[in-house]
Amino acid sequence: MKQTTDFLKMKENEEKIVMLTAYDFPAAKQAEYANVDMILVGDSLGMVVLGYDSTVPVTMEDMIHHGKAVKRGASNTFIVIDMPFMSYHLSTKDTLLNSARLIQETGAHAVKLEGGDEVAEQIRALTKAGIPVVAHLGLTPQSVGVLGGYKVQGKNAEAARKLIEDARECEKAGAFAIVLECVPKQLAKQITEELTIPVIGIGAGKDTDGQVLVYHDVLGYGVERVPKFVKQYENLNSIIGDSLAAYSAEVKNGSFPDDSHSFKMKEEELLSLYG
Ligand code: KIV
Ligand code: NA
Repeated sequence: MKQTTDFLKMKENEEKIVMLTAYDFPAAKQAEYANVDMILVGDSLGMVVLGYDSTVPVTMEDMIHHGKAVKRGASNTFIVIDMPFMSYHLSTKDTLLNSARLIQETGAHAVKLEGGDEVAEQIRALTKAGIPVVAHLGLTPQSVGVLGGYKVQGKNAEAARKLIEDARECEKAGAFAIVLECVPKQLAKQITEELTIPVIGIGAGKDTDGQVLVYHDVLGYGVERVPKFVKQYENLNSIIGDSLAAYSAEVKNGSFPDDSHSFKMKEEELLSLYG
């Protein structure tokens, strides 16, 4: 299993880092089978598996419930778990207690939180306490209300300058990696070059140190519309839909279950049963 320091080395060696989200046991097993470098138990689980329309309703209990399942499926992969909405804004003490719960109760190796300069204090405290932190910059979905929707961030020079400054602050505060979401690729390249720690992009072009995508987006599983930056490697919706429709049809027409899916009693036992 990789460690935080291995990700730094991968950046130095220009070896791309692959991150994928997972929210349950089978997905974690498959992610480990696919040899991803890091699994993210993202709070996107609120949208893709719980059906909320944002990540804001996701609770600590939700994260812990899913984090445990992921750990059971991928015991040999580095796991990052999201700190949910409002679990790291009230106080440093609250932040430490919540992140300790996430790590201790799920067995994840690091936490991720959204924000730059405004959460630098929390990143510093967590790192000091021995909890590795991934910072999340650019489009930060927990602030969707303030951002006014899921939009590309850092498009003008002023916003770009602020993002570069935030990324520097996160590195200075001790974050061992940064997730950079939905920013112009030129800005992502610039930030990647300026930082020593790895930058893992999503909707940030090809020049970051790694990429992260949401499991359900990659597989076309459950999700209907996906953002421009997603590449769908499969369309599980149609495969699953067709399979379930076939099951339903076979039950209705009596062709399932057939003998090959049924158990049989020996003739003599049957005779003595009816005696
Ligand atoms: O929750 C999540 O899936 C994330 C990724 C999109 C980076 O934070
Ligand atoms: Na997230």
